[in-house]
Amino acid sequence: MDAKDIDYYSLGFEFIETKEMFVSNYEDGKWEEGKLVPFGNFEISPAACVLNYGQGIFEGMKALRTKNGEITLFRPKENAKRFNDSAERLLMPIYHTDSFVSAVKEVVKANEDYIPPYDSGGALYIRPLMIGTGPIVGVKPAKEYKLLIFTVPVGPYFPEGFTGIDLEITKKYTRAAPGGTGAAKTCCNYAGSMLPAKETKERGFAQVIFLDAVHSEFIDEVGTANFFAVINGTLVTPKTVGTILPGITRKSILDLASKKIGMKTEERDISYKELFEDSCTEAFCSGTAAVVTPIKSVVLDDKRRLFSEGEPGEFTRKLYELLTGIQRLEIDDEFGWIEKV
Ligand code: PLP
Ligand code: COI
Repeated sequence: MDAKDIDYYSLGFEFIETKEMFVSNYEDGKWEEGKLVPFGNFEISPAACVLNYGQGIFEGMKALRTKNGEITLFRPKENAKRFNDSAERLLMPIYHTDSFVSAVKEVVKANEDYIPPYDSGGALYIRPLMIGTGPIVGVKPAKEYKLLIFTVPVGPYFPEGFTGIDLEITKKYTRAAPGGTGAAKTCCNYAGSMLPAKETKERGFAQVIFLDAVHSEFIDEVGTANFFAVINGTLVTPKTVGTILPGITRKSILDLASKKIGMKTEERDISYKELFEDSCTEAFCSGTAAVVTPIKSVVLDDKRRLFSEGEPGEFTRKLYELLTGIQRLEIDDEFGWIEKV
């Protein structure tokens, strides 16, 4: 779509084609230099490892426009590192972190016209993707790969936005088990989460909260974001033990809470039962797409806990304001998290 024809003020989180994408192929044990090409289809063997055995990984990032018209990225090296951690788990080749960050910047510059204006609150979502393209029939890694980076202008991931979302705790489905691929950003983790998401949406919830696969008791994460709660004034979040995605927003929020607000923070097991106690006063989820989204209520079977109605909790608001203020260069970037494009 032509950048001029987009209504940036009513964007949701839907695919919109932009102009250019970055492509690099891996053959004979090395990556070619890679280049920008017009966004479009490409040929792939029906025997490609990604099509048959799901050998694919991705990242999610955002380019934001500031009030002064500058373009920012948030901690892009962290995404490059996590991309390589995911690659290692799926026996895929590493992509050099500096090359990853410069390729991301190239794609953003090439699609600059599609970055939503500052006052729309939107962003240019960046999707780095690596797939095993080499033909395979036995279950083993491909020999050839393709790295793609494309962009999509987006608005809020959850249309409810800052009024908060209703979530359902699921005991029917799990997302990841110990020893599995939960900590890697692999395509397959998301394929399996679509049915739980569809079913819960039909019941009126924005998403599910997944519990741990062993005890069905401890919170893992929300379908597409990390989970936080304020319990007895302490900010708590599930620890990263291989079954949740180690979110970059999560890590940043832990720093903001302890260093900027002076909150006590804990990474620990959180029983879903704690959410139904009075000591738990706020809950929210975090992610590149979700930013900081307040959790209005959680439900398990016939039990409902209401956290907030209309106005999110005090700490949720403070953390949202600090995070987005730094991301849009309105609050001093004292941690050195921002890279300008
Ligand atoms: N958990 C899942 C399953 C996700 O898909 C995401 C989004 O990337 C996150 C957590 C949050 O991670 P980040 O803050 O790095 O975007
Ligand atoms: C993100 O927050 O970037 C995600 O990857 C979540 C979802 C869009 C898959």
